[in-house]
Amino acid sequence: MQNALQGGGAKAIEKQVAMGKMTARDRIISLLDTNSFHEYDLFVEHAAKDFDMDKKYLAGDGVITGTGTISGHPVCIFAQDFTVAGGSLGLMHARKITKIMDHAMSLKIPLIGINDSGGARIQEGVNSLAGYGEIFYRNTQASGVIPQISVILGPCAGGAVYSPALTDFVFVVDKISKMFITGPEVIKSVLGEEISMEELGGARVHSEITGNAHFFAESEAECFDQIKKLMTYIPWNNTKKADPYPKKAPRTKEFKISEIMPTDPREPYDVRKVIMAITDDSNFFEIQEMFAANIVIGFGRINGQTVGFVANQPMVLAGVLDVDSSDKAARFIRYCNAFNVPLVTLVDLPGYLPGIDQEHAGVIRHGAKILYSYSEATVPKITVILRKAYGGGYIAMCSRHLKADFVFTWPTAEIAVMGPEGAANIIFRSEILNAENPDQVRKEKIEEYKQKFANPYVAAAHGYIDAVIEPDETRKFIAHALEISVQKSEKSPEKKHGLPPF
Ligand code: HXC
Repeated sequence: MQNALQGGGAKAIEKQVAMGKMTARDRIISLLDTNSFHEYDLFVEHAAKDFDMDKKYLAGDGVITGTGTISGHPVCIFAQDFTVAGGSLGLMHARKITKIMDHAMSLKIPLIGINDSGGARIQEGVNSLAGYGEIFYRNTQASGVIPQISVILGPCAGGAVYSPALTDFVFVVDKISKMFITGPEVIKSVLGEEISMEELGGARVHSEITGNAHFFAESEAECFDQIKKLMTYIPWNNTKKADPYPKKAPRTKEFKISEIMPTDPREPYDVRKVIMAITDDSNFFEIQEMFAANIVIGFGRINGQTVGFVANQPMVLAGVLDVDSSDKAARFIRYCNAFNVPLVTLVDLPGYLPGIDQEHAGVIRHGAKILYSYSEATVPKITVILRKAYGGGYIAMCSRHLKADFVFTWPTAEIAVMGPEGAANIIFRSEILNAENPDQVRKEKIEEYKQKFANPYVAAAHGYIDAVIEPDETRKFIAHALEISVQKSEKSPEKKHGLPPF
């Protein structure tokens, strides 16, 4: 018993702690409710024989598994122990993980994986690869059934990052988390390129550039607080809704829409403040804050009920849709749909980002993901058009045509194929060019186009929107729409599965 609880021994634990890392067992204890952790399979031992492995004892085979609670809610959990053979995954290590995954699926409760591993245990060869395959299969089966949360708390390589990539939310900690398929040494030997682990796959890289991480923390303690907070917003499984909370009004002294919005319609503003003017107690739990910041996603509550927000961010790239923001939003929309979270979409964008880079990066394929995910979503969908809704952006941001249940606009909304300047230059080109005073005529034509289309009333006349509302009435209208949508039940056409543009 003593040996099994010692992990990789005092020296290895000292090294782990000196790096600012908790031990695997301490991590579980810190994350779960006090005294709630029940450990299983403590005495499992590895079965490897090659490379003198038969002479080695690996405590718990390098992974701790069990069940416990977070704020009283049951969870299944595993934590890889880097002090034991670098947390590497051998056959029995994998079996412990797949056993707890199977529990999570049959009990229909969330799975939390704390990853701190050098990947496939090299000495165990194909058995380690088989172990990963079994984990990936279960991650996929569990996807959309139970919440799967991955925490990266060490240098995670190879298979140790593909399993997290298949899960719903990935948490990272500055300076501690590293994720890569092949590490700096392999890159150097194959390509001759030199890069540090931090620059290759540190927490910031995955939070800002790759989008692999959803939550960034400065310390493990902060990371665990983030996980606990996330758990309050999501349901245990796909047959339930998130627990309701006591209703609270927004903090209107700090967050009042009419005061947040700039008077000049071309001025940017922080759409997160608009969200906070709508949500209970003005709380907004943002996801992927540092990645593709031109779109904002996250959870808030309205009258105690969890809602998923998707909002263009005019402060960054004017809120355009591009490859990364489409990816980010599409995945979140699918999460909300899978776990019964109603969607509220706030629209203010000039459209998809034009450019050779974007076209060649596949903006057609990635941009289509957002169309697909809104169209397939059957949860209540409520859209508010704040200012600009041009072109493909208008359609993509949960328009009536993608089957939004309710579409509201502010009086400042402009719904058109493109902005008045661009539109006037195209449709009145010859009139402008042939005019005695082209600048004057251009201005007049822009004004003419604005009068016609830069308002919500043409769309309203066609029934594409349900109501033109005052900005400060936004919460009231959304709350009512949510209330009357509680029983919404919509069936998708029967099929094995669709083919989203992966
Ligand atoms: C066996 C491993 C191991 C592994 C680390 N260790 N990774 N043992 N198999 N994959 C052992 C080390 O031998 C060492 O043992 C101890 O763990 C600590 O490792 P260090 O290298 O001293 O630690 P550090 O310097 O912090 O470097 C961490 C690391 C590095 C970056 C993770 O160990 C590393 O690059 N490991 C190999 C990564 C890798 O290529 N894995 C295979 C990926 S392929 P001692 O006894 O000295 O303490 C894969 C296939 C699945 O995963 C693909 C699915 C698609």
